[in-house]
Amino acid sequence: MNIEVVNTKSVRVIAIASGKGGVGKTNVSINLSMALAALGREVTLFDADLGLANVDVLLGLKPERNLSHVINQECELKDILVDGPNAIKIIPAASGVKMMSQLSDLQHAALIHAFDDLVSRTDVLVIDTSAGLFNSVLSFCAASQEIVVVVCNEPASIADAYALIKVLHRDHQVGRFRVLVNMVDDREEGRKLFKRLVQVCEKYLDVILDLLGVIPRDPNIIKAVQRQKALLQTYPSSPAALEFKKIADIADKWPKARSANGKMEFFLEQIIAPRAIDQMGVSL
Ligand SMILES: Nc1ncnc2c1ncn2[C@@H]1O[C@H](COP(=O)(O)OP(=O)(O)OP(=O)(O)O)[C@@H](O)[C@H]1O
Ligand SMILES: [Mg+2]
Repeated sequence: MNIEVVNTKSVRVIAIASGKGGVGKTNVSINLSMALAALGREVTLFDADLGLANVDVLLGLKPERNLSHVINQECELKDILVDGPNAIKIIPAASGVKMMSQLSDLQHAALIHAFDDLVSRTDVLVIDTSAGLFNSVLSFCAASQEIVVVVCNEPASIADAYALIKVLHRDHQVGRFRVLVNMVDDREEGRKLFKRLVQVCEKYLDVILDLLGVIPRDPNIIKAVQRQKALLQTYPSSPAALEFKKIADIADKWPKARSANGKMEFFLEQIIAPRAIDQMGVSL
């Protein structure tokens, strides 16, 4: 099937990933999206966690429809977009997406059309991925212009971040990663952790890691999660919130895709590829 994206607007696609679960991906996705929106960008947050609807839960949203309704041509993408804080638009997690590998031509076309439509209304597409090295996660990452790897100071988090980087490098030729250290007591701890990850990656892989930021352990995040609100909504001056704003300033200056629409087209090709939605894990 030919994929033609006629729109010429450039969309920055940022995937938030980690390998290990519970390290803060969804909080990063939401607050980074909000901080980018505060800079004047039109931001769409795609909840690509195919298992659990993370963004909905953290923001207390109860969307009635999701991407599966778009694929089945029951509605258009604009009908499922949910308004989030700071006017970000949220694409709710799709249930039953395992079926995507068996989409009919008509359903494929509907999905392509849906994301094509998104180009005209978005400057930045942030993708909150699920934990694990599922092919869906890898494909979303590989299709994105920027991959932010969230890591915290636990051996399993570092090992899983390394495994994610290794597979994306080996199987998808990704050469650059932005690392976001989360839940540390101070900047020094964050820097040390980043250095450890760089050392192990440099030893075995030919990749470039950039330290995007260090987010402190902040009890206000836990309070915000309990209230089902974003940190930037409830505690905009808290230490972690200030760091999210700094990170958004940096991300906003990243170079855009070289061709006007090339990356979005590539993104579409990747996410509709049958293996993209395959939930099988990969071997290391
Ligand atoms: N900087 C932080 N300071 C304190 N607590 C934090 C911080 N970041 C995240 N948390 C805590 O970690 C929990 C998990 O965060 P989050 O849901 O964003 O992780 P995740 O990586 O998306 O998890 P999953 O893999 O299950 O999707 C939050 O509910 C919150 O309590
Ligand atoms: Mg999550």
